[in-house]
Amino acid sequence: MTNNSNKVNIAMLASGTGSNVLNFINYFRIHSRIKIALVISNKPDAQVLKKAEMLNVPSVYIEKAKWNDPKYLLDIFKKHNIDFIVLAGFLSLVPAFLIQEYPNKIVNIHPALLPKFGGKGMYGMNVHKAVIDSKEDKSGISIHYVNEEYDKGRIIFQASLFVSANDTPETLAKKVQKLEHEHYPRVIEGLF
Ligand code: GAR
Repeated sequence: MTNNSNKVNIAMLASGTGSNVLNFINYFRIHSRIKIALVISNKPDAQVLKKAEMLNVPSVYIEKAKWNDPKYLLDIFKKHNIDFIVLAGFLSLVPAFLIQEYPNKIVNIHPALLPKFGGKGMYGMNVHKAVIDSKEDKSGISIHYVNEEYDKGRIIFQASLFVSANDTPETLAKKVQKLEHEHYPRVIEGLF
């Protein structure tokens, strides 16, 4: 912890609907050690920003050019006393200077069993379509540290589920999302 409060302040980075962010905010709303202190999006119209606002969690949109501006970005993290960063559907590469500033303190969730179905362009429904197209009988979630390459950091936790012959990318997405909501906040909680 680098801040003066007795809690670990987490910033969440997200680009989309933010069901995981919502789940985290609810899970940690009354928590002795962890606080969701900030939600950041790289999309101005991301639903996640509205969700955070409704739940009185500070939220900020950061435009593309500013993600390459260390002073601008790090000042935001410092202002909110951020100790740890959690990605939930953040569809952009995390800048190297942020990874250096937060070594082993940035975690991502990927909606498949890495190292399969990871890498650039592999996000959201693209992942589920690829899993169905490959006729995999298993998929799941991977929670991992973030490094300079998409989906390559050390894996902290995985959980799997069966893909049935009737599954479509949409039904698989729902099953994976349920698994994410069940495990992701608990795995992060377990790190502190
Ligand atoms: C989640 O399924 C997450 O695993 C995935 O985006 C979704 C965001 O959902 N992330 C990736 O694909 C990263 N490569 P949400 O906006 O409802 O939390």
